[in-house]
Order: sequence, then C-alpha cells, then structure tokens
Amino acid sequence: MKYSSSTTAVPEAHKVPRHVAIIMDGNGRWATKRFLPRVAGHVKGVETVRTVVEACVTRGVEYVTLFAFSSENWRRPEEEVSLLMRLFVTALEREVAKMHANNIRLKVVGDLSRFNDKLRQMIAQAERKTANNTGLTVTVCANYGGRWDIMQAIGKMVAAHPGMTDFSEEQLAPHLAMAYAPEPDLFIRTGGEERISNFLLWQLAYTELYFTDTFWPDFSEEQFDKAIASYQNRERRFGRTGDQLAEKTN
Ligand code: IPE
Ligand code: IPE
Ligand code: MG
Repeated sequence: MKYSSSTTAVPEAHKVPRHVAIIMDGNGRWATKRFLPRVAGHVKGVETVRTVVEACVTRGVEYVTLFAFSSENWRRPEEEVSLLMRLFVTALEREVAKMHANNIRLKVVGDLSRFNDKLRQMIAQAERKTANNTGLTVTVCANYGGRWDIMQAIGKMVAAHPGMTDFSEEQLAPHLAMAYAPEPDLFIRTGGEERISNFLLWQLAYTELYFTDTFWPDFSEEQFDKAIASYQNRERRFGRTGDQLAEKTN
C-alpha cells in the first residue's frame, strides 16, 4: 500500500469508513451483572466479533482492527489471563477456515514473544493461510500497546539507517505494526470508558472517536450502524476551516 498520513497530507474522507478500530470493552461487567464469571463475558464477546466482522463485510469496510489483549492486561489475575489465551486458541481453531472461505485476511499484531509456542504457531499458520485474501482485513491486536508499537518501530528505523540522527515520519511509518493499513477513520469503544488505554496511539491522530455505554457482548449490528452514522455526520477538517471544506465540495 502507498504510504498515507493524515499529518503529512490531507487524506480523502470516505463515506463508509475504510478502517474501523475497536476497543471491545465491558465483557467482565456484562458477566458480573448477570452473576456469571467474567470469562462468560469474554465467551459471549467472541460472538460479537463475528457479528461485527460480518457487518464490516456487508457495509464495505476494508479494515477492522480489534483490541483483544493489551500489554497491560497481563496485570489481571493469572486465571483470567490463561482463560483469555485459551479462548484465543479456540476462536482461531473455529473461525480461521470460515474467514478464509469468506476471502478475509487475518493479521495479528502485538508483541507475540510472550505467547506460548502453540499459540504463536497457530497465529502464523492463520496469517499464512489467509495472506492472499483480498476482502476485509481483520487485525487482532494481542499483547499490543501503542507505546510498544512506536518503540519497536523506532528501533527498526534506527537499525535501518545506521548513523542517522534526524528522521522523518515517512521513515518511521513503514515499521509500525499496522503499516499495511490506512489510518483508522473511525474508532469505537464500547463499555462506557472514554479513554484510549494505550491502543493505536500514533495511528489515531485524526480518527473520529465514538464511545458507547453498551457492553461489548451486547453490541449489535444496529449499534455498529449507529456508530457509522455518527461518523458520517462529522466534519473531518484535518486542521482546515469548515469554510475551506465547503468551498471544496461546492
Ligand atoms: C474487554 O472486557 C476484554 C479484555 C480486556 C480482554 P473487560 O474484560 O475489560 O471487561 P470490563 O471492562 O472488566 O467490564
Ligand atoms: C482495553 O480494555 C483493552 C482491551 C479491550 C483489550 P481494558 O479494560 O484493559 O482498559 P482499561 O484498563 O479499562 O483502561
Ligand atoms: Mg475493561
């Protein structure tokens, strides 16, 4: 993909967001409210992933990026972490063939070195299998942190230009974990919190933010459309004035 950046050039605004990035939050509270163990919320959350992926396909979204496990989620009780890992393995086992049949490309980004060999192999296999698919790209962010991403990209950039001390955005961008995708147009966070929680820090520079109180397991196709409708009502100025935009469209 040709490198595009919302800060070095004014990007084109698309009616249907090309790239939607989602913090799938509220699984635990959804379960607790029902007197269920937190993991029941994570299990139900996988169903929502399916719903949202299907909605992205039918709406013509090109990239959907899902925050599944943050670099800070290791701070959770060991039991919850290991249940989440197991759930990730089962979801891969169940969903990859279906994704492949639907021409979906799967990517997993994050510091995968902390995952066990089995999971790492499954991820590599799933990515390889779906690599040439040309439909929706689904990116799962696992052990991902926005600061980790920027730091690992800086490391690679410096290594690629020995002795150099002055760098440009264009030199950093290809080393970011999601260099294959345009910057997100729309960010959705479910679960009521209004924060970024170390998700895509670099890439969200000009993304439209949408927050909803709905817990992720309750998030539906209708609610996804509501988020898109909200996005379509925004004026994406990218630093310019509203008048300048009006002139362009007239
Ligand atoms: C999001 O739901 C899933 C992960 C972080 C893995 P949570 O587990 O954070 O649910 P709440 O926020 O505690 O309700
Ligand atoms: C963000 O949710 C990470 C994921 C959804 C994977 P958290 O539940 O971990 O975020 P905080 O702790 O409320 O900020
Ligand atoms: Mg949470």
